[in-house]
Amino acid sequence: MKIAILGAMQEEIEPLLSYMEEAKAVSYANNVYYECKYRGKDVVIAYSKIGKVFSALTATLLIEKFGCEALLFSGVAGAIHEDLKVGDLIIADGLCQHDLDITAFGHPYGFVPEGDVCIVSDVKLRDIAKEVAKEKGIVLKEGVIATGDQFVACSDRKNWVKDTFNAHALEMEGASVAVVCNALNVPFFILRAISDSADDDAGFDFDAFLESSAKISADFIMHMVEKI
Ligand code: ADE
Repeated sequence: MKIAILGAMQEEIEPLLSYMEEAKAVSYANNVYYECKYRGKDVVIAYSKIGKVFSALTATLLIEKFGCEALLFSGVAGAIHEDLKVGDLIIADGLCQHDLDITAFGHPYGFVPEGDVCIVSDVKLRDIAKEVAKEKGIVLKEGVIATGDQFVACSDRKNWVKDTFNAHALEMEGASVAVVCNALNVPFFILRAISDSADDDAGFDFDAFLESSAKISADFIMHMVEKI
């Protein structure tokens, strides 16, 4: 099975690339895709650039052009749930778009006709993650991750996302990747390590913890790849 591993930023894929035994860079549609070998497996790694549009484009190309049959996302997120601290890992059971709003027409937040508020991630991949966590003694949280085209650095907005979607963490790519994978029938998994708490200090914390949290996420993903 050819596996895609996607991040949003260069910092999120650098620790992944350091594991690869071979990596061939292919430029396409203003992005670089690394066709790699890891322990006999075909892996394609890319960073999309930040946000829902770029991540949807990259996820689509990983599947349609590069032939990936499962997609794992590795990166960082802002914590919503009080139990989540910098460096903690969370897997998404469902993903929603917190900035999608046609409530003027009587629809709930995050909903468009013929879509779902929340898209459920692949249960088998989540089970593999839980197996890895158990074996390595790593605490793994699971919950809804909310996605939007905004870096949230405001407790009011964070609390609104929490109350509206019952979300545990927020970021800027997961739900758009979920929409693509769901439409194309490709199993997907979204993992995030916490870099900040989406509050007034979020910008500062993000800069301070992006690299260390991205590595925590990448290391975990690589343990999973061995089992897929
Ligand atoms: N990714 C990491 N931290 C974030 C935040 N506070 N808002 C949106 N995306 C994030």
